[in-house]
Amino acid sequence: MSTPAPNPCAADLAGPAISAWPDVDDLYRRLAELVNQPMRPIRADAMPKVLRWFDEKCAGSRRVAEQAKAVIPGGVQHNLAFNHPFPLAITQAEGAYLTDIDGNRYIDFLQAGGPTLLGSNHPVLREKVNQLLDGCGPVTGLLHEYEVKLAELVCRHMPGVEMLRVLGSGTEAVMGAVRLARTYTRKKWIIKIGGAYHGWSDQLVYGMRLPNTGRMEAIGIPRGATAHTQECLPNDLEALRRRLRINRLRGGTAAVLLEPLGPESGTRPVHRDYNAQVRALCDEFGALLIFDEVVTGFRVGMGGAQAYFGVTPDITVLGKCLTGGYPMAGAIGGRKDIMMSLVGGIGTMSRRAFVGGTLSANPLSCAAGYYALQEAERTGAAVRAGRAGDRLRRGLDEIIRRRGLPYVSYNMGSIVHLQTSGVLLLDTSSLWKLLKVKDEARRRKHMMEEMGAAYTAHGLVTLAGSRIYTSLADTDDVIDDALNRFDDVFALV
Ligand SMILES: Cc1ncc(COP(=O)(O)O)c(C=O)c1O
Repeated sequence: MSTPAPNPCAADLAGPAISAWPDVDDLYRRLAELVNQPMRPIRADAMPKVLRWFDEKCAGSRRVAEQAKAVIPGGVQHNLAFNHPFPLAITQAEGAYLTDIDGNRYIDFLQAGGPTLLGSNHPVLREKVNQLLDGCGPVTGLLHEYEVKLAELVCRHMPGVEMLRVLGSGTEAVMGAVRLARTYTRKKWIIKIGGAYHGWSDQLVYGMRLPNTGRMEAIGIPRGATAHTQECLPNDLEALRRRLRINRLRGGTAAVLLEPLGPESGTRPVHRDYNAQVRALCDEFGALLIFDEVVTGFRVGMGGAQAYFGVTPDITVLGKCLTGGYPMAGAIGGRKDIMMSLVGGIGTMSRRAFVGGTLSANPLSCAAGYYALQEAERTGAAVRAGRAGDRLRRGLDEIIRRRGLPYVSYNMGSIVHLQTSGVLLLDTSSLWKLLKVKDEARRRKHMMEEMGAAYTAHGLVTLAGSRIYTSLADTDDVIDDALNRFDDVFALV
């Protein structure tokens, strides 16, 4: 059983969790180079060997995956879950490692999609949650002290959060934040940044993953639902200004909604001063600024990306790390005068933005979140995980250079991007370009799946074969072991 991390000495934790912001112009140049040259996938003679590993070592996972297909559409329920050639069935998670039903052990760089900053299945959280379950069970529908403790902790650390309302997921929280912004401003337009993911609510399946793709993924969503959603390309401040100006003549912009590192957790990174410039534009045009910190909240520091950039949003959306990997991770935070439009309870008569949820703010999620954040603060988890990310990225850079590969790696603390196929970086900035890259995107996506399979066969679980989350559990030894494994994978290219 892993033991809780000791109290670190202060010198250990000096500096922000993101030690250096990437050189964004240089990064875009390298990413353009990557997508403008032929792909460098796993060699045709090496791929069968990778797939044979699954045949020989993963019989149990294959059996569960086959059973799943009969009762679960496609056999998978997580959009970013690794599923090539079939999904792994995991039976154990602890610290930096996952173990599957066949007894294979993997270094866990998926981290459930981001929430387990402390490492998987942290013993402190498990103990506290068990204590809570022994007392009041997971839910009562009435107030619990942990709701207050969690809200106080978040308000203490997040510059833009004076009050907090806990909901069921990041998707719900974004939905509520948009409704709150419209309620407060009495304006209707929402501008998001192209390529960003803000969950799957009707109004925000728009310009998702790839910029400028508008309603491409909005299958089953009526036009009216996205009629007041707009997108601007990341880093294009002039385009944002133009939209704000036009919207002013058409009822006004309620909010600009963005992921502060750049769309898709920094897959398309923004310039260091971008958020401050957007803040200024919002102030100029009377729009609210919403930071979607579902990924960045607590992962890039206890104060989130807003503390890192020194930019205070009007509304903050939280999720993932908020409950340390326990269920029901979502919250809206913000300025008190805005947040008062979210007053709950039966007796409320005020004009309010209606949000709710039977299991929202249940004691289990709030206790897990309170202790997860306390532990993150005590151990300096974001800084330590960020250092692990730095070490991993430096090592990846060295391997890529030594092997003469066109791949691009960069990191923002514990969020490490490893672009080998560059599928999300294809140029979709106009309709013509979008049509042009359609087939290319399919091939590059398949390459990404093959890379993901090869990583897995070498004991590395990543997010969709292109993103890596590091955690407090990733010691230097774990990272060095991982680098040897990445080197073995890249030897197959
Ligand atoms: C930036 C961002 N916002 C919102 C969401 C949606 O959160 P959830 O999956 O909890 O609904 C995600 C999920 O990955 C996300 O990355």
